[in-house]
This record gives sequence, C-alpha cells and structure tokens, in this order.
Amino acid sequence: MDSGGKQLTFQLMLAVGTAVIGSLQFGYNTGVINAPQATIEAFYNATWIDRYQEPIPKNSLITLWSVSVSMFSVGGMFGSFSVGLFVNRFGRRNSMLMANILAFIAAALMGFSKMCASWEMLIIGRFVVGLYSGLSTGFVPMYVGEVAPTAMRGALGTLHQLGIVIGILVAQVFGIEAIMGNSTLWPFLLGFTFIPAVLQCVLLPFCPESPRYLLINCNEESKAKSVLKKLRGTNDVSADMQEMKEESRQMMREKRVTIPELFRSPLYRQPIIIAIMLQLSQQLSGINAVFYYSTRIFEKAGVEQPVYATIGTGVVNVAFTVVSLFVVERAGRRSLHLLGLLGMAISAILMTIALSLLEQLSWMSYVTIVAIFAFVAFFEIGPGPIPWFIVAELFSQGPRPSAFAVSGFCNWTANFIVGMGFQYVEELCGPYVFIIFTVLLIFFFIFTFFKVPETKGRTFDDIAAGFRAGLDKPSPEELNSLGADSQL
Ligand code: GLC
Repeated sequence: MDSGGKQLTFQLMLAVGTAVIGSLQFGYNTGVINAPQATIEAFYNATWIDRYQEPIPKNSLITLWSVSVSMFSVGGMFGSFSVGLFVNRFGRRNSMLMANILAFIAAALMGFSKMCASWEMLIIGRFVVGLYSGLSTGFVPMYVGEVAPTAMRGALGTLHQLGIVIGILVAQVFGIEAIMGNSTLWPFLLGFTFIPAVLQCVLLPFCPESPRYLLINCNEESKAKSVLKKLRGTNDVSADMQEMKEESRQMMREKRVTIPELFRSPLYRQPIIIAIMLQLSQQLSGINAVFYYSTRIFEKAGVEQPVYATIGTGVVNVAFTVVSLFVVERAGRRSLHLLGLLGMAISAILMTIALSLLEQLSWMSYVTIVAIFAFVAFFEIGPGPIPWFIVAELFSQGPRPSAFAVSGFCNWTANFIVGMGFQYVEELCGPYVFIIFTVLLIFFFIFTFFKVPETKGRTFDDIAAGFRAGLDKPSPEELNSLGADSQL
C-alpha cells in the first residue's frame, strides 16, 4: 500500500519549510490583533474625535473593532474560494509565489494606516492579508500533500498547522506593550507581515513544482520523475510514479470536476460532506474566540496580566501541535479528531462553570486559565491540524482543487461568523457563551464517530476506492474496516 520512502530529504524539507511560511503568515495575522486591541481602539477613538469632535460611542467601537478583526476572514473566504483558479493554471509553486503580492500590499496598507489617520486602510489591509491567507490555506496543504511520501503525509501536513501556531505565538509576543503593542509601534506590528513574504519569495524559486501536478496536469513525465528523485533522495521512484499514473488514469475517466459536480456525483458527495463538516468542526469549536479575544476574556475573568495569559495560550498551542505531529501517523486522524473534540467540550463546560462562579470565588480566574489552556491543547490534538490536510487525502487529483475551494470557503465563513459575532453574543450570554460551542462540539463528535473513515497510511487512490466501494452500503463499519484493512 505504501508508496515512497520515509526519508526526510533536504529537498523535501526545503519545499515543505518554504511552503509553510504561508501558514506562518496566516497565523501571524490571526494572532496579531489580540494583544493590542485596547491600543488600537484608542487610535480609533482619537481618529473619531478628530473627525466628529466627540468620543466614539461604545457600540460603534465594538462594530468597528469586530469588523477590523473579521475582515481578515472575509478576505479568507474569497481567497480560499479562488484557489482553483490558480493551482491548475500556474502550478502549485508559482501560485504561492504570486500570492505574495497581496502580502506586500496589505503590509503597506496596515503599516501606514496610523500615519494617514485612517482605520479604513487598516480594515482594507486586513481584508487583503485575509485574501493571501485564504489562498495559502489551499495552496500549502495541497502542495505539501502532493510532495510528501504517503507514510509522512500526516506529519508533514501537520506542519501547516505548526506554521500557523508559531505565527500566532510570534504575533502575541511582539504584541506585548514593551515590544510593539504600544501606541507608537503598533503599525510596525501589523506591517511586519512583509518580512515572511520576502523570505518566501527568495526561497520558492529553489523549490520543486509538485510532481503530481507535473505528471497528472501537465503530462511532463520526465520532469515529474526528476523532481521525485530529488524529493525522495533515491533513483528508484517507480512505486511513486506507478501510483501517480494510476491516479492519472482514474482522472482521465473522471474528467475535470467542477464545484457543482462535487455535490451532484455520488462518488464525491460523501467525501465533500466529510471535508466540509471537519472544517466546520474546526472553526465552530470556538477556537478563534480564544485567539481573537483571549486578552479581553482573561481581563473579564479577573486575570491580572491578561496579555501574558494570552501568550500562555500561544505556548500551549505550539506545544500540543508538536505533540500531534508525533502521534498523528500512529494514532490515526479519526481517533485524534474525536479525542480533541471531546476534550474541548469538557474544557468548555469547565470554563463556563468557572466564569459563572467568578463573582463568588475569585480564584475561579485561575480555573478559567486552566480551562482555556486545556481547550487549546485538545484543539491541537486533532481539530486544529487534521481538517486542513485531510482534504488532500479524501480526494484524487481531479476533484482536489474544487474540494479545497469548497471546504476552505466553509472554514473561513465559519471563522468569520465567530470573529464577527463573538463579542455581541458574549454581551448577551455573559459567562454562558461557551455553552453554544459545547453543543456544537458534541454534534461534531457524533458526526465524526459515525461518518469519518480512517485515512492514515493509505494512498490517495486507495482512499478514493474506499468511497467508491462504500457507495452501495456506506455504513460507518464498512468504511472503518476498509481503513483498518489497508493499514495491515
Ligand atoms: C487553525 C485554524 C485557525 C486557528 C488556528 C489556531 O489553523 O484554521 O483559524 O486560528 O488553528 O491554532
């Protein structure tokens, strides 16, 4: 079943390492508006006074801030949906290269927003960097999934998430008041996004194009072969070539798969529903309520140094992504996702209890910290990394770009809903706001339990065959046993 070796060659590391700079950017811009919220709000207020000769009303500030936070995900929605327009036309690598133009534009808009006394520039900048990030959430897992040997696909796929979480942590640390989260330096904090963009532009020309793209989309057999030899560090790449050709033959039969066809064809309906639900489970778990607003949550929970508690979430986030990196090829995607969702649901209940008892028992603020840390840790065990790379696994080359577009769009839409809605819903529900996420988490746990097959250690073609075989009787037992068989 296994195709390709397990060797981590220099070429493979370079390719994956360079690609995940895109993930780092996504993470950085997710985390960057958390710590300096109060500082940038003060700038909004000052600008408002300048324009209208009165302080900004509370509701206008909530709206303006929520829009600034969530414009990023609106950009992400458009970006992720456009993935298919690029990857087959320009190739995976050149698509990543081109997207950096957006990162430069965004850095300029956000970096100069204070100088121009314009929150509009900041908001448009957030949108543009969201576009870049949305494209990255398609480009990076697709490219990584296509260059990785089967046995390392999960671990290398998790590097996308590792890039994201490191980006979040760096942004949180830079956002400390003593570093850049202050009234003078915050424009640099936002503008810094141009640095990874420069780095990626320098390194990408040294990375290979995806061999699957070369062979299956461009019919360039000898190029694909030579790229594979470098990536695998061996001259014998016949197993990989064989597997890709098999996928290519299947694809000839399928032709190109458009987005409506994904839903119409019984062949793809089940995997696309699974892909969408896994993406929704990631966002509707409420994780970004923490990563956008934790400083405010900790503040309300009476934590004395909320910014440091926020950095704590970033550290836990990185640590548990590393844990996931090491267990994902052993424990499998399905079990880790289930464990993660369940653990998050329990942590959310604990958090709700702690927040609601806060008035009577002040030490509950510590319990809040523990609960939020546990919530984040369980997220990274499964719901964080898995949805991103499982899409590449659930689909063959033909439907893959459309599947990325659809599932990525769903992810970002849910991200938007949480980013935009959280502050309002929190105003309404107070300490009980996380109950909503608990209910959703339980729902996604049940769905995963009954519907998601194991994909660990199986070739793309084998996974697709599993869905074809399951068409007559798509019972969960059957899908599971297919997963178990192929791991033997
Ligand atoms: C995932 C999510 C992202 C979130 C991050 C937290 O990558 O897609 O929205 O902020 O995890 O680590």
